[in-house]
Amino acid sequence: EDEQLHARIRAAKEALGEKLVILGHFYQRDEVVQYADFVGDSFQLANAALTKPEAETIVFCGVHFMAETADILSSADQQVILPNLAAGCSMADMADEESVEEAWEDIAEVYGFDPEDPQPDAEGKLPVIPVTYMNSSAALKAFCGRHSGIVCTSSNAATVLEWAFARAHRVLFFPDQHLGRNTAKAMGVPLEQMPMWNPRRELGGNTEEGLREAKVLLWHGFCSVHRRFTVDQIEQARAEHPGCQVIVHPECPMPVVDAADAAGSTDAIRKFIAASSPGDTIAVGTEINMVNRLAAEYPDRTIFCLDPVICPCSTMYRIHPGYLAWVLDELVAGRVENQIIVDDEVAAEAKVALDRMLAAKP
Ligand code: 13P
Ligand code: SF4
Repeated sequence: EDEQLHARIRAAKEALGEKLVILGHFYQRDEVVQYADFVGDSFQLANAALTKPEAETIVFCGVHFMAETADILSSADQQVILPNLAAGCSMADMADEESVEEAWEDIAEVYGFDPEDPQPDAEGKLPVIPVTYMNSSAALKAFCGRHSGIVCTSSNAATVLEWAFARAHRVLFFPDQHLGRNTAKAMGVPLEQMPMWNPRRELGGNTEEGLREAKVLLWHGFCSVHRRFTVDQIEQARAEHPGCQVIVHPECPMPVVDAADAAGSTDAIRKFIAASSPGDTIAVGTEINMVNRLAAEYPDRTIFCLDPVICPCSTMYRIHPGYLAWVLDELVAGRVENQIIVDDEVAAEAKVALDRMLAAKP
């Protein structure tokens, strides 16, 4: 039966030819990745959506926010398909538009600006700029577009924060507290200047003085895959494999990133391993499908996942080859299933924030 499924995918790809491009995130399972014309991290996939204008259909093997981004960045006559609509991201769901709008109003009250029209001070700086991690809904990217804000991914978060600090006294960073904290810390921002924004209407855990000094207001989101990694696992890996190197994704909690030898986006992890030497041992703190693929690609090195219990991203995993075969069969038959369409107005505002990211230079 599996063979039949794969034969269907191959036949549909052949029939659709240049009209189709399949994009796959590094966290996709091998049975899906093998069909991707381009495999990459979130930033590379956002760019890839721009580089194939001749393809009328982009089938995105990843999660919902990535497909939305592809729809926003691709040309008007391209359509984007997500093989399984249930492939979301629990972190992206931790910041909804209403809560962020409400927080923005509270923040405007604390810092004394008009939430609809913040004005720069004598230094030319805005009081706060919103920065959203790519792992967020199109509506939040649009929120950033409307409020002089910007999008970042894990591969350009430091560049984007620098861009923001050049234009504002502080940033509101959402949804991932860990990426925000780890990135700002590496840039030298002291921990006490990056309080969690308390989502309740009252100040809650935030003191007025703390908020005055704050450089980064962190949202309370996290990735359920990466928050599983612990310092104990790193210590155990080092005890069992003396001399091993440890690299983790910056969505991991700060103590884990601090204890590791390096931290970086999925593509940075790939590059770290590509630059290692035969015989090296590398423990990796990220999603298991990617770690296993790297281990198979470099059989002359010992590469393993820090978490001994298998840790896939359960929503990435929802892109089963069966769904891929189905959407491709439908396309061959002239039917479009599971298309991701971002509302025009939202897309236009989100594109402003995405374009700022694509133009931000280190
Ligand atoms: P990157 O591919 O940008 O490293 O992101 C990892 C991730 O969690 C995607 O959801
Ligand atoms: Fe979301 Fe984490 Fe899965 Fe990435 S790995 S899609 S952040 S749940």
